[in-house]
Amino acid sequence: MCGIVGAIAERNVSAILIEGLKRLEYRGYDSAGVAICNLAGELRRSRRIGKVAALEQALGEEPLPGHLGIAHTRWATHGVPSEANAHPHFSGESLAVVHNGIIENHDELRQRLERLGYVFTSQTDTETIVHLLHHTLKRLPDLADALKAVVGELHGAYGLAVISRAQPDRILAARSGSPLVVGLGLGENFIASDPLALRQVTDRFIYLEEGDIADIRRDSLQIWNAAGTTVQRETVQFHESAEAAEKGEYRHYMLKEIFEQPRVVQRTLEGRLGATQVLVAAFGPQAVELFARVRQVQIVACGTSYHAGMVARYWLEELTGIPCQVEVASEFRYRTVAVHPDSLFVTISQSGETADTLAALRDARSSGYLASLAICNVGTSSLVRESDLVLLTNAGPEIGVASTKAFTTQLVALLLLTLALGRARGTLDPAREAELVAALRALPGDLQAVLGMDKAVEQISALFAEKHHTLFLGRGAQYPVAMEGALKLKEISYIHAEAYPAGELKHGPLALVDSDMPVVTVAPNNALLEKLKSNLQEVRARGGQLVVFADREAGLENGEGVHVVQVPHIHPLLAPILYTVPLQLLSYHVAVLKGTDVDQPRNLAKSVTVE
Ligand code: G6P
Repeated sequence: MCGIVGAIAERNVSAILIEGLKRLEYRGYDSAGVAICNLAGELRRSRRIGKVAALEQALGEEPLPGHLGIAHTRWATHGVPSEANAHPHFSGESLAVVHNGIIENHDELRQRLERLGYVFTSQTDTETIVHLLHHTLKRLPDLADALKAVVGELHGAYGLAVISRAQPDRILAARSGSPLVVGLGLGENFIASDPLALRQVTDRFIYLEEGDIADIRRDSLQIWNAAGTTVQRETVQFHESAEAAEKGEYRHYMLKEIFEQPRVVQRTLEGRLGATQVLVAAFGPQAVELFARVRQVQIVACGTSYHAGMVARYWLEELTGIPCQVEVASEFRYRTVAVHPDSLFVTISQSGETADTLAALRDARSSGYLASLAICNVGTSSLVRESDLVLLTNAGPEIGVASTKAFTTQLVALLLLTLALGRARGTLDPAREAELVAALRALPGDLQAVLGMDKAVEQISALFAEKHHTLFLGRGAQYPVAMEGALKLKEISYIHAEAYPAGELKHGPLALVDSDMPVVTVAPNNALLEKLKSNLQEVRARGGQLVVFADREAGLENGEGVHVVQVPHIHPLLAPILYTVPLQLLSYHVAVLKGTDVDQPRNLAKSVTVE
């Protein structure tokens, strides 16, 4: 992962770089650093362990002014989080590099460079790049020529930016497997891992493509493609307001994003619903024709997005009769897959840059699938650009590392997909479709009502603050909801949380249940309710404390060791979307009680661009 920012301007760039890094902290935050070239021609750097705020403080005490700079916020892969391993990495005093990704042949390169006399000061794979570049510059003195030669020797993934004291009028950047975007200013230009980092300085961007190398100067930009040919890439003008990424009145981004769900779900639905049916063309012009041919669906995703895919399987098989398989991308990409012809390959991703999901898509494109569809929140992401069909979730920037609004909007998008496939295939009864379209229209209001449970959930959260283990149970499409609830709790409160299909309880986890292990369950009023109630009895009989989020008509009441929190009534097929919200609130309040870093939990990152 890691985040990169670079700037070349007439003005001092250090504040621009720091602001950019803060906006990129979602990509990693175990250390941060900056290298700046000043007017005296010196290349100086500052690096700190921990978050960007520590680096900002260091620069406050010892400023590094200059017109040219690169900066980095790190999520450690090779080498522990330490100042020595923090980027930028230097070769001598003349050359600095920042890198996002993994260089797989770093061992071999390191040995070669050590034999040439280079002394390494870090454990990182990145340091090999800067020494290799230094060595290559002896033969090819132009920085662009040297970088082109160097990338030919790198195996793995990189988004990188380089500056040289000897050539202080340019930043060189290269992309292969990790995202990079050039920001265009007036008499100044920028580079970053994500446009979000640069929204305070520009609204015009050029996305580098795989294999591109860019020579960024104050007044010009030159891009070469992987074949070494000069290319023009399209400029994208951004319109959405930069404030979307502000925290506003909320104490944490996560809480803000939970409370945004009614509004963003409304946006996911916008332009996609007719009076009684889903507009299939919303998936792209070829969707009508392609969807009619779909006989099977393969969903691939990671983390929270994988849980959304698991819910979709219940919907797809029940409503359309189309067989559906769901798999985590890191497994899918490394096994031999038997591909059914006429199978639609669906990826789900908030960021659209998750390395494993992207790699799975790239493999799938040559594996005989009918077509690929991306369900994604970032319209300019690699996943979107490389898929045949796209449905954007339109949730707006999600900053909290624990995904909330991205998940619920993914679910809405997947239900739209289900309805669209059912209609295109003729396997969904039009009356059922009309009923679900009406239920979807009512969903933003239902979500608003469920947020009214916040205080009740906050009270219940006290039960968890001192606990070390919890169990989440669900049946049917609520099982992935339980998995998502457990993931949220472990991510931000560091309490061990496991999810089980409620019927599996007696096949093992029941042995763990005692008064120290709260059991959380979601109980909408559906066909499985009676079976779930029996499972809950099994827990009570072992002294387990139950927390049940239940439909008010479910007939469940508070009792000794049983805490029932009532959830507004909802169409049973939409229950996974609604019941997710109290579980988000629960993990949020437990984390606040425990005093953890809610928006940036330890060891995690928002966008996982390494495998
Ligand atoms: C990371 C994030 C999760 C996210 C997962 C997949 O682990 O912390 O919140 O669910 O990556 O990311 P994607 O962007 O592909 O949905």
